[in-house]
Amino acid sequence: MLGQAAPRLEWRAMLLRRLKLTNFRNVANAALDLDAGLTLFQGANAQGKSNLLEAAYLLAIGRSYRAAAEREMVAWTARERDGYAVVSGTVERGGEADELLVGLDLRQGDTVQKRVQINGSARRASDLVGRFNAVLFTADDIALVYGGPQGRRRYLDVLLSQADSRYLRALQRYQRVVMQRNRVLKALKENRAGERELLFWDGQLCEEGARVLGGRLAATGPLDEAARRCYAAFGAGADALETAYAASVRIPDAPSDAALAEALRDALTASRRRERALGQTVVGPHRDDLRLTMRGVELAQHASRGQARLAALSLRLAEAEVLAARRGDQPVLLLDDVLSELDAEHRALTMEAAAAYPQTLATTADASIVPERFRLSARRFEVTGGAVFEEEGGAG
Ligand SMILES: Nc1ncnc2c1ncn2[C@@H]1O[C@H](COP(=O)(O)OP(=O)(O)OP(=O)(O)O)[C@@H](O)[C@H]1O
Ligand SMILES: [Mg+2]
Repeated sequence: MLGQAAPRLEWRAMLLRRLKLTNFRNVANAALDLDAGLTLFQGANAQGKSNLLEAAYLLAIGRSYRAAAEREMVAWTARERDGYAVVSGTVERGGEADELLVGLDLRQGDTVQKRVQINGSARRASDLVGRFNAVLFTADDIALVYGGPQGRRRYLDVLLSQADSRYLRALQRYQRVVMQRNRVLKALKENRAGERELLFWDGQLCEEGARVLGGRLAATGPLDEAARRCYAAFGAGADALETAYAASVRIPDAPSDAALAEALRDALTASRRRERALGQTVVGPHRDDLRLTMRGVELAQHASRGQARLAALSLRLAEAEVLAARRGDQPVLLLDDVLSELDAEHRALTMEAAAAYPQTLATTADASIVPERFRLSARRFEVTGGAVFEEEGGAG
């Protein structure tokens, strides 16, 4: 059933061929040669399985998806000794290979110096984004349904940044503008800044905000279509999953950059007093949401836990599809402990959907819950105390 969602054959495969970790969390040293198809990392709790996927995803998005501070990623033992962590990888796409490297250096003091290299040359972390496209599924994805709008904005932003580096640049500029503008609003409140300063930042906000908003709006149609289809294929009740972009400004019928900038300007004018009172920018893409509903009602309000989980899974599968369509390469799927809360049927459907992609790295504490036909053809690694060993008798 999920086969309907199968990416088209002409899309190129992207493969993570090699993944190497040094002093990354509890992994002192690991060098893995990876193949296409399914790779399973199994092991008891707290052995380092998620750390491996975090490292792989670090190469895709240039930062950790779960560390509040980057120094958390450096192994505790290394903090005193060498004081650095390195994650590197070889990514193959269409017969070409890129060498990606992220170094986290604590030797300069308490804050981490992040050093990124692409094919041996020093680059910015944001230059990594788009080199290695990956979609991460975790058990925490359920927060896409139950959590606040921030997580859903981040979902859109990570997808769009991987799809198009211009989006990432616009987003970074926009975030800086909001920060600066908030500073000015606060200063105005305290009579420390003039009106003219605010006018300058209004212009910047409308310009960069329009780009971000335009990028998100263009993606929401295809995303909605893919998420609906994936959710329907899970057969989780008769209700359809609906997603819609909920903007804090009125969206014009023809949302060109100019029209969106205009809409942002109108919204700024209308919220002038509220902004002044709060000392904050209260409209713009940083306040928007991706609404998830069923029959028009907020999913978080009436979905069962299982439905919420399947909705979150559908959003991730939709992310992978839209990313593949945009880039022309199929992303690598990283599945962190996503099977354990599903029933046997949905575990099989999930693995089937993943099998449409050239490479999947998955973790599980219990390999026996991986449906047999997928498990038998997988390469399997055991993760124990941060050490990674290939299992005997695995394929490949
Ligand atoms: N900077 C660090 N240095 C050393 N160890 C760390 C560091 N950060 C986290 N750890 C440890 O790494 C261990 C493994 O974490 P990880 O999240 O990868 O486990 P896991 O195998 O995915 O377990 P689970 O099955 O519970 O999800 C944890 O015990 C954690 O305390
Ligand atoms: Mg884990």
